[in-house]
Amino acid sequence: MFPATFVLRTKGCGNSEATRREQLQQIYASGVPFFTKTAIREAVRAFDSILIDGHSEKSVFITGVDGATVAFRLRVGEIVSGSSTAFILKEPRLCYHPIEMMMGLIQPCSACSPSVHDHECGYLPMSVCHEADQIDATTREVIQYYPMPPKTEIQEDFIKYYGKWRASEAFCRLKSIFQGRVDSVKLPTGINKVVAFALGSHAFGQSERAASASQHALVLSVRGFLQAKGGTNVTCYAQDPDYQTVDRVMLSTLGVTVLDDPRALLEIDQESVVVAIHPAIPVRQIVADITRPAVLIWHRDTYKRRLLETNDPTSPRVERMLKEHYVEVECPFDSELFRDTTVYVRKLPF
Ligand SMILES: C[S@@+](CC[C@H](N)C(=O)[O-])C[C@H]1O[C@@H](n2cnc3c(N)ncnc32)[C@H](O)[C@@H]1O
Repeated sequence: MFPATFVLRTKGCGNSEATRREQLQQIYASGVPFFTKTAIREAVRAFDSILIDGHSEKSVFITGVDGATVAFRLRVGEIVSGSSTAFILKEPRLCYHPIEMMMGLIQPCSACSPSVHDHECGYLPMSVCHEADQIDATTREVIQYYPMPPKTEIQEDFIKYYGKWRASEAFCRLKSIFQGRVDSVKLPTGINKVVAFALGSHAFGQSERAASASQHALVLSVRGFLQAKGGTNVTCYAQDPDYQTVDRVMLSTLGVTVLDDPRALLEIDQESVVVAIHPAIPVRQIVADITRPAVLIWHRDTYKRRLLETNDPTSPRVERMLKEHYVEVECPFDSELFRDTTVYVRKLPF
């Protein structure tokens, strides 16, 4: 990923680093949401208009938690040259800065880095970056480092892992949870959506494919449990920038709509089940700011120490949300395929 170009801040920022961190801490403690659907929707609107018009020179505006707006100039189509290879910048997307990153406790990724480290952008919970393809510097052809496996191989593997998932204890337990057969757990009514993040591509190596296929199988099962229960149509969305054409085609066949970042975030609401298995973005912090979904299937809260090394750390807001609004329901997920995944069901009444 490459950053978009930071061009302008609406008001100067003469604060020292210590003052900036102190202010961030105060703003965070006051409860001001760092991530809002309004800001995400605004970015989507700008991305869409830029992609449709083809005016990659246009700017996208992101407002910081201090109220100052920062403009990013898009670089779609720009070529960044290295010695023998180069990169061509593709569609824009958002980079998300969890509070720990803004406070300097965890390292930003290379695309977020200029924004997080640039003092003028130090109050931004999001910045703008680009997906990129590596290309041959002379021919400009996209370089494929690994051969794309045949579609049939991916489909056959998916069926195999789907079968294994359905035979697992975790599948049975999850079914009981969604059927309301687990003591003291009452599922919220009216759930009509499953929104999945970061389940990975089926096109990579065998172990990645096993995890990705099993995690997508879980999503299909949850949809099935909900449909069997309510008989209503349950929509499924999935977002992962790693998806290749083969993933998109297969997921579409399975009735899962793939959305490009950040569009799936806009689908999360109180009637959704959110599935996020070790995302490289702070899904939990974003959710904690925007809504209280009916069910969360993501990593256990106590996974904190290792998560501090990733981009989805447990923040005080995530901790509070889980404690106040959710009950954790044990589910024996296979740790190789699902890592430390658990299930949180929203408490009633809400
Ligand atoms: C650590 S991997 C986890 C993959 C898989 N869930 C697993 O357990 O092996 C992180 C995943 O986050 C995905 N990711 C990165 N940015 C994302 C975004 N903006 N939205 C959704 N997923 C994203 C990556 O493409 C990658 O698949």
